[in-house]
Amino acid sequence: ADAMLAATPPMGWNSWNAHSCTVTEKDIRAAADALVETGLRDAGYEYVVVDDCWMADETDDAGRLVADAEDFPSGMAALAEYVHERGLKFGIYSSAGSHTCQGYPATLGLERLHAEQFADWGVDYLKYDNCGDHRGRDAVDRYGAMGEALGAVDRDIVYSICEWGQSNPWEWGRNVGGHCWRVTDDAVAKWQTHEGEFGLGIADIVDRVAALDIAAAQGPGGYNDPDMLQVGNGPDSAQSQHEPTDIERRLSAVENRTHFAFWCLLGAPLFVGTDLTAASPDLLDLLTNEYLLAIDQDPLGMQGTPDRRDPTCEVWSKRLSDGAAVALWNRGEERTEIRTHVDETSVPTAGRRYAVLDCWTGEGWETLGELSATVESREAAVFRVTPA
Ligand code: DGJ
Repeated sequence: ADAMLAATPPMGWNSWNAHSCTVTEKDIRAAADALVETGLRDAGYEYVVVDDCWMADETDDAGRLVADAEDFPSGMAALAEYVHERGLKFGIYSSAGSHTCQGYPATLGLERLHAEQFADWGVDYLKYDNCGDHRGRDAVDRYGAMGEALGAVDRDIVYSICEWGQSNPWEWGRNVGGHCWRVTDDAVAKWQTHEGEFGLGIADIVDRVAALDIAAAQGPGGYNDPDMLQVGNGPDSAQSQHEPTDIERRLSAVENRTHFAFWCLLGAPLFVGTDLTAASPDLLDLLTNEYLLAIDQDPLGMQGTPDRRDPTCEVWSKRLSDGAAVALWNRGEERTEIRTHVDETSVPTAGRRYAVLDCWTGEGWETLGELSATVESREAAVFRVTPA
């Protein structure tokens, strides 16, 4: 049998947050080049995904999707080839409805045809949105039809279910062939959003994931998806400058770090959502933090869960193949010390000593179980704890 697809959470880059509906094949090529040049490809970011707006306004007579002639003049097969030549994989987008969210033709009722054309083009990943007319069909039926069509083609295609958590996709996503399923509305590059604003902030998404209590749905080959990484999309980013929107983007350096750490602690798919041609050295350091990536990519594929939540301190942990990751998160406004301890229930060990690795500094030490850190407002200390 084939090796399991998405045996660890898929990683890559997605065009939506950086380019929204103005995306062109040049942006995709530039992103592929940037993944190589920045070292992100070698750190594991492998899928280059074109989100909404790649298609022309009309399908061909048979109902096949056609690439927009102006923005994607070389066509999708050539673009896939460009991406593959760089040692990367190619992802594309459609919707389980009559149209995409931006009003382009989509796939409902044409699953076989589109799955075949994606396979012919060399597509390795499909992000499948939830917009357009559903023609009275429920989510399991619509997403199931595409899962079946993808399963029938002669190519491995990772299936990303973008249903926003509306019909509990964590309950059926894996059964319809999905490898990840969005669990919330869109993430935006803010710490928190307010009533009436578009999207969810980073802290809002973590709160939502905690409240949903869906860790059991996740494991190798199928992941809860809290949406693309917003790191890098702060007010000084290239994105905010060349593409101002009504969303005020402002993730601070600390917020960026906590955001990335939590996506890793959740064992989430990691899709960079920023323009990598303008990424700062700090951002690249964050995205390639080997300790955090190892937590995300741990072979058990577990989702981290909260052990303790109060208005100032939160303690989260994720079981790893050789121990546990523990995060001490300051939810308050003042710098504070957070303490917790590990024991045999969280980190099975024969002896009484544990090795601790600070995932921000790479420093290590031993403990009998006590863990503590002084953390700034919104900051998270993250430790990998293994038997000593
Ligand atoms: C809604 C999805 O949740 C986003 O991630 C993005 O794909 C847009 N649709 C595109 O229109």
